[in-house]
Amino acid sequence: MTEFNTPDLDNLIADMFDTMHAQSGAGLAAPQIGVMRRVVIFGVEANPRYPEAESVPTTVLINPIIEPIGEDADLGWEGCLSVPGMRGLVPRYTHIKYRGMSEKGEAIERTASDFHARVVQHECDHLDGVLYPMRIQDMRYFGFEEVLFPDL
Ligand code: NI
Repeated sequence: MTEFNTPDLDNLIADMFDTMHAQSGAGLAAPQIGVMRRVVIFGVEANPRYPEAESVPTTVLINPIIEPIGEDADLGWEGCLSVPGMRGLVPRYTHIKYRGMSEKGEAIERTASDFHARVVQHECDHLDGVLYPMRIQDMRYFGFEEVLFPDL
């Protein structure tokens, strides 16, 4: 995708934020609302779905590229608006560098760790048709949210 700052792109991004906020999600990828473009959004302030999570800057990232920094990986619980009601324990790189463009066509380049890095990896996976259950290594740690986290 090469056109930025267009009404079409602004509408897509507004729809994506509406969907993400309506579901209290940490992020969303355009294919999740049926748009096959390489656009992801993410951002976390206080999020009831992730009460322990640190904040993540609200970001629109277009044509993203992720590079791991080192080999370190962590397991963390993930959910996904495309896999409703479920949670799974997913390995992700602990430290990454990511880059892409904003909706205005400005270059974004950041390093991220921990939950921030996890959210970016999860959302970018959607652009390649990868959902988090495909990355779970131990299926004992995949199940219904209300069973795994009855107190949530
Ligand atoms: Ni997802």
